[in-house]
Amino acid sequence: MNVEQILTERTGAVTTVTVNRPKVLNALSSQTVEALTAVLIDLQKDDEVRSVVLTGAGDRAFIAGADIGELAQLTPRTARALTDAGHRLCTQIERLGKPVIAAVNGYALGGGCEVAMACTCRIAARTARLGLPEITLGIIPGYGGTQRLPRLVGRGRAFEMLLTGAPVTAEEAWRIGLVNRVVEPEALSAEAFALAATLAAQAPEAVRRILDVVNHGLDMSMADATALEATAFGLLWATEDAREGTTAFLEKRKARFTGR
Ligand code: COA
Repeated sequence: MNVEQILTERTGAVTTVTVNRPKVLNALSSQTVEALTAVLIDLQKDDEVRSVVLTGAGDRAFIAGADIGELAQLTPRTARALTDAGHRLCTQIERLGKPVIAAVNGYALGGGCEVAMACTCRIAARTARLGLPEITLGIIPGYGGTQRLPRLVGRGRAFEMLLTGAPVTAEEAWRIGLVNRVVEPEALSAEAFALAATLAAQAPEAVRRILDVVNHGLDMSMADATALEATAFGLLWATEDAREGTTAFLEKRKARFTGR
């Protein structure tokens, strides 16, 4: 499946999705945002796809933000439509029901950093730079960055990044918890794929429940969130994979999950 600005490549249960506008460092035009969202909706529906790697074309950028040429033309009405579309994209990633690994292969700025933050895990090339430079354009992040950044790195560090607009190195991003790990650029695709493949081999319903309980639970009280966890825990015992996992352990063999 190839949409002009978005490339997809399927390897077993893992699909790699590549934002393909290298001439503008994979900046997100509104058309690109719509195309990426549409591709992700298709991947959500496809039961054969168990995890996703998201990356940018070329070796310079993951995504260098929203397309500034388009931003310059915005009115309050079109700006609102643009931010709504960005939120739909990031929510689609976060609520995909399957893990999405961001392979951050270069600049992840503005909307690019926001897309990466909506992913389940982030692996960065040592050469990557991440940041929310919107303040330097006289605006604020509009794809959820004001909310996901403080949830990942804490309020103080988030304020510093949001208010200075200065990007951080991959190493600093790792130190503050913005990325899970940093690897050499030439190892990035293999590392991201390996993590995606590991997660694709787990029992899919249990994976979906973990994503759901963590993502929803963090916005709830502890009492409501643990009740959500309890419901999910109970429902998982309706799956064959839960029986298989426990039986395989007792029989001292590797579990063979089928997704049922
Ligand atoms: N929107 C539109 N075009 C962009 C872009 C964006 N967000 N980011 C980069 N580009 C384009 C540049 O205009 C340039 O196009 P050109 O070759 O036609 O002149 C091309 O991509 C290469 O970028 P360039 O700026 O020449 O590369 P650089 O190595 O000097 O700098 C960056 C790289 C990422 C530091 C710089 O491009 C940048 O600051 N981009 C904007 C980042 C940003 O503010 N994003 C948040 C938007 S809300």
